[in-house]
Amino acid sequence: MTSPDPLVPRLPSPLQEVGDDRFERYGLRLLLKRDDLIHTHLIGNKWRKLVPNIEAAKGRPLATFGGAYSNHLRATAAAGRLLRLPTVGVVRGEELADRPLNPSLARCAADGMRLHFVDRSTYRRKTEPETLAAILRAAGAEEAYVVPEGGSNGAAVQGCRALGEELRGHADVVAVACGTGGTLAGLAAGLTAGQRALGVPVLRGGFLERDIQALQERAFGGRTGSWSLDERFHFGGYARTTPELHGFAQDFEDRHGLPVERLYVAKLLYGLVALADEGAFPRGTTIAAVVTGRPFPQGQPASR
Ligand SMILES: Cc1ncc(COP(=O)(O)O)c(C=O)c1O
Repeated sequence: MTSPDPLVPRLPSPLQEVGDDRFERYGLRLLLKRDDLIHTHLIGNKWRKLVPNIEAAKGRPLATFGGAYSNHLRATAAAGRLLRLPTVGVVRGEELADRPLNPSLARCAADGMRLHFVDRSTYRRKTEPETLAAILRAAGAEEAYVVPEGGSNGAAVQGCRALGEELRGHADVVAVACGTGGTLAGLAAGLTAGQRALGVPVLRGGFLERDIQALQERAFGGRTGSWSLDERFHFGGYARTTPELHGFAQDFEDRHGLPVERLYVAKLLYGLVALADEGAFPRGTTIAAVVTGRPFPQGQPASR
């Protein structure tokens, strides 16, 4: 018996309607776009963002960047294992080098990723050409194909366009949680006239509008599609959570029987319930929420 190809994705990803009285009472339909079911290891937007980059790398090692709990680092490491490509992960926080690896970094290492820890100030400057060259030299990865933090570059944004295309004719509003904004940038470009994309940033800062526009300029030559951001649902910033958010996510899991990733997906769903309550969507609106990830391992890092 031949074993299944480890890289066959489930595309288009399933689209499921869920009955939820917090939407139905306002005449709204809620659909879940289950990108978390695309692949066992390259979950959610990771498949859509990484595969075009792996093609562009043409067999060169992949080097990329992330924090101690980065979903993107784990996905890159898994892709390296599946495709037998060497991977190097540049991790924010020099101090982590002397500690036991947390479960997320341990997973990366088990998948064969070589981890290289850098101090936070160098990490912040990693997009400056000289700093990047020095990091790659120190990591022994001068020949590598570099994928930026969060995996968002022109190729990734083009890969995410298919997410929007899969949702044509199915929803009026497509909502997604945003880190770097690459997924939203591509998604919005793939939608058709009359549909709009709504991004819920999980970081504080108000810089994302500009970043997403820049990503669209790189991928498509200009601002594309109808999209906007609602910056109110970050719960204190990246990787921050609150007991209220955990309670909300647990309740959503109990109602609908799917695992709710806390750092992105829970914030998105919470935001949508709040917006429905505020009357932000006219009666008859169909909203598709993109489930971009899955909890790791089963639980979550403790809130900070
Ligand atoms: C689970 C999950 N959802 C959403 C996102 C946000 O994607 P983007 O950085 O393209 O905005 C990420 C980013 O890595 C993620 O891991």
